Amino acid sequence: MLRTVTPADTPQVVDLVVAAGMFSREEAGFLHEALLPDGDGGTCLVEDADDGAGLASVLFYRPEEGSERAFDLTMIAVRPDLQGGGRGAALVRHLEQDLRERGQRLVVVRTSGTPQYDRSRAFYRGLGYAEHTRVPDYWTDGDDLVLFTRRL
Ligand SMILES: CC(C)(COP(=O)(O)OP(=O)(O)OC[C@H]1O[C@@H](n2cnc3c(N)ncnc32)[C@H](O)[C@@H]1OP(=O)(O)O)[C@@H](O)C(=O)NCCC(=O)NCCS
Repeated sequence: MLRTVTPADTPQVVDLVVAAGMFSREEAGFLHEALLPDGDGGTCLVEDADDGAGLASVLFYRPEEGSERAFDLTMIAVRPDLQGGGRGAALVRHLEQDLRERGQRLVVVRTSGTPQYDRSRAFYRGLGYAEHTRVPDYWTDGDDLVLFTRRL
């Protein structure tokens, strides 16, 4: 079951995103601040693993700065051994339903063009997200920004 993250979950969120290959432990340090309830309208949800070994998944989305009624899907990760079982799709559908109910109109996803993210891009396409833009060398040299959106 999805529940709202608490500051005490942060080490487990870091473990999960590191295990999922999204960030190194150093890069994931920003989460200690990002996941604090800071009133910027961000939502972070986690799902406890049935086997008691930490978190099964995490989902973090927040208002897109400067856009009207648009949200950025900032982070989504499923524990590696639980991937491919429909959890990620269920998380995205949950986010979309939540945002629809809150009168939002657009979801924005910024991902990477590297081969490591081939499956992630396929995941968003499969969920009906449209791929619009590729910005060369955006994240770092050789790592393009790939932008997806979906109307709600
Ligand atoms: C991307 C991610 C959240 C998808 O979650 P998931 O639970 O594996 O995805 P689902 O099982 O709901 O959907 C699988 C679909 O997405 C794709 N997919 C993406 N990553 C996959 C993976 N690691 N294993 C299997 N399928 C994957 C497949 O095309 C599959 O399509 P299908 O159902 O038609 O076979 C998850 O794989 C993950 O945490 N990846 C690492 C972190 C990451 O890349 N996050 C996104 C950064 S922008």
